[in-house]
Amino acid sequence: MVYKNILLEQPEAGIHLLTVNRPKSLNALNAATLDEILSAVTRVAADGQARVLLITGAGEKAFVAGADIAEMRDATIEQARDFSERGMRAMHALEAAPVPVIALVNGYALGGGCELALACDWIIAADTAVFGQPEVNLGIPPGFGGTQRLPRRIGQAGALELLTTARPVKAEEARAIGLVSQVCPAAELRARGLEIARLIAAKAPVAVRLAKQAVLRGANLDLFAACALETELFAQAFATQDRREGMTAFLEKRPPRFENR
Ligand code: CAA
Repeated sequence: MVYKNILLEQPEAGIHLLTVNRPKSLNALNAATLDEILSAVTRVAADGQARVLLITGAGEKAFVAGADIAEMRDATIEQARDFSERGMRAMHALEAAPVPVIALVNGYALGGGCELALACDWIIAADTAVFGQPEVNLGIPPGFGGTQRLPRRIGQAGALELLTTARPVKAEEARAIGLVSQVCPAAELRARGLEIARLIAAKAPVAVRLAKQAVLRGANLDLFAACALETELFAQAFATQDRREGMTAFLEKRPPRFENR
């Protein structure tokens, strides 16, 4: 697929950077952009050398200012359902990606933009970032998973407050309520993202994948089933060379050399 609305780059070995690239409409997500995101995530997921996927928005003003309101305005019920399902496919693909996916939120992350950030494993925000679910201002509830992922991230009451008032939340508050993991100066966001990606890329790749899988799959199970899943994934790691290397390197007091096997 040739991308017209996103950029997919590999700034360093194993580190992929997806930029939503429609700055004139503050990177609003239209159907084509959602399909391109899905295609890009599928491509990264199929790359055995991939270690981390970073997602950001083009320009300095917005990460993503939501679903494309101009495209939605005249939609029928059927078209709205199709649009939501398109968005859901892209968001689910991010969550299911085998490598960690980190959102670098460089400005407005509203509506579908907040939902895109929530579908990433965690969020680093510029100090200029603004989050929110303003859909009720437009006469709709969220449609890309916000009613489900926001309460899972920040709790039901806090999510309901934001979903029903449409109140915008600045970066520092977003960190305080657990929506965002780190905040940094806007000018340093990309460098911070790359620094963290490098840190993750240096770890045992299979162990990183298993840890993500355990958290994401376990979140939908009861505690005992989730812990049984963790046991299974823990045991699977013992089939890898990298876990032998990691433990041997520790005991020999030297840095490990992981080979993704
Ligand atoms: N869809 C389409 N176009 C958008 C857009 C969106 N979500 N957000 C911004 N734009 C466009 C504007 O129409 C404008 O275009 P023109 O230059 O052609 O007029 C351009 O981007 C710049 O935007 P503004 O002039 O509005 O910029 P601002 O600095 O005055 O305001 C903003 C910035 C507060 C983010 C404001 O643009 C805004 O409120 N945007 C909409 C946010 C929103 O409601 N998002 C939710 C969308 S619904 C959704 O996402 C549903 C879902 O869950 C699936």
